[in-house]
Amino acid sequence: MERIECDVLVLGGGGAALRAAIEAAHHDLNVVLVSKGPLGRSGCTVMAEGGYNAVLRTASPDDTLDLHFRDTVEGGAYLNDQRLVEILVREAPDRLLDLERYGAVFTRREDGTLAQRPFGGQSRPRTCYAGDRTGHEITMALLDELRRLDRVRTLEHVMAYRLITDDEGRVLGALCVDLDREEELTILAHATILATGGAGQLYPITTNPAYKTGDGYAMALHAGCPLIDMEMVQFHPTGMVHPESARGILVTEAVRGEGGRLYNADGERFMKRYDPDRMELATRDVVARAIYREIREGRGTEHGGVYLDVTHLPDEVIETKLETTLRQFLRYGVDIRKEPMEVAPTAHHFMGGVPINERAETPLPRLFACGEVTGGVHGANRLGGNALADTQVFGRRAGLHAAQLALKLRRRGERPRAPASRLTDPELDPWAHVGEEDPLELRRELRQVMWRHVGLERSERGLKRAIQRLNELQDRVNERGVDDGPGLRIALETVNMIQVGLAVARSALFRRESRGAHYRTDYPNRDDENWLKHTVYRPDGRLETRPVDLRRLDPRSG
Ligand code: FUM
Repeated sequence: MERIECDVLVLGGGGAALRAAIEAAHHDLNVVLVSKGPLGRSGCTVMAEGGYNAVLRTASPDDTLDLHFRDTVEGGAYLNDQRLVEILVREAPDRLLDLERYGAVFTRREDGTLAQRPFGGQSRPRTCYAGDRTGHEITMALLDELRRLDRVRTLEHVMAYRLITDDEGRVLGALCVDLDREEELTILAHATILATGGAGQLYPITTNPAYKTGDGYAMALHAGCPLIDMEMVQFHPTGMVHPESARGILVTEAVRGEGGRLYNADGERFMKRYDPDRMELATRDVVARAIYREIREGRGTEHGGVYLDVTHLPDEVIETKLETTLRQFLRYGVDIRKEPMEVAPTAHHFMGGVPINERAETPLPRLFACGEVTGGVHGANRLGGNALADTQVFGRRAGLHAAQLALKLRRRGERPRAPASRLTDPELDPWAHVGEEDPLELRRELRQVMWRHVGLERSERGLKRAIQRLNELQDRVNERGVDDGPGLRIALETVNMIQVGLAVARSALFRRESRGAHYRTDYPNRDDENWLKHTVYRPDGRLETRPVDLRRLDPRSG
């Protein structure tokens, strides 16, 4: 088995991972970055289109950090860790400038200042963008900076599947599989950063790339780390619905930010019944549920969506500001300059995950985390445009504090190492779960259950059914193992997906109220008296609650 020693190990290949690696490399440390898929192209950042929220006051001179803070916490239905939100809004502008220094080119206004567009749930237009390919622009700049630094060893097509811990629960690195050679790889580190993203692939309809299977959540649980607010899964209101092969692909919120309107099949601009003030720019939870109801109540389109229309906008706006969307639909024979798009909700973002503090430290010593794998920043519902900012703000913080820890351990003369007993533990063998069950069939069943019972609308009955079905899938894996015929990656991911599905379903059953993205038909109201709390999912499946940080805004105090 190959063994690598390094100062800082970064697990993940998206925007948060790249930013963390860049920061750690600035400290002249030995940094290794492990990416399951192609570097920069397997995470969600590269696919994020609409933008990056930062208070710059170009489009609206009266914008303030306080307004950004308030919009984020109100949009998150007060479940956000307010200490983390303060950091997010305060540092987002500087991290945007970092990206410009790395070479990202954002759209500018005629006077040369950065352009900002309106996005859902925001009281001011503060979403900076590069047309409607913002995430791509950011990713390319991060990759350029990483290469320019030339100090980070990058391992692509390598999947981390277990964190290595010692008896005191300290994280000492990760056990990985080189997916091309199907060989184990042990990476020992002074500090490890989890930046593996979310788990949109738990759902059959998702904006997420194939790699987003919740490996980080499963690794954290396995190492003894609890997860918070796992029931909070965001469904982006607008994914493609037709043709079937394109179902779920993101139709960026920028379309509505630039003035796109939603209509049902009766030609009604239905958002006026759900949120007459904010209309199409209500928060995502509100818009997604409105669309879902229109479809469910029989006012959907031929292909099971609603219409999103930009035909009233000048062609020039569509061709310049929504160029990707224009091309995306032209490919399927729809010219959005002349006809409406058909759209429906699609699984997009996990707000819950590994808890972190302001130093991006997790409850496990020597483990840091950043990006979508973490919970707490976005509360019960993330504002569009806050995720790209999150990747950069907390990516940098994770890289910085992991580097500081590594420097401290180096000064003490410590070398990255792990007790031999930990490395030979049969539980850590990636082939331990290999057996007979077809992983593609397991995934099909899992996704069907998640969509039907753990999707936009949930109930006690449905969630109990889901948990029972997921437990059955888990039993099948435990008893017969998973066939690695389609590849070891697919087999390992499938095991992770079932564990994460259970975490989401159990947390959703536990929270007996509706808040943000979590809607319970049997508890349709928000209940601040009893549920203004984080849910905490323990590695043994037990659930408890934890107080929310309400240092600046408390909905109960009027
Ligand atoms: O709609 C979008 O362009 C996605 C942005 C986001 O999720 O932040």
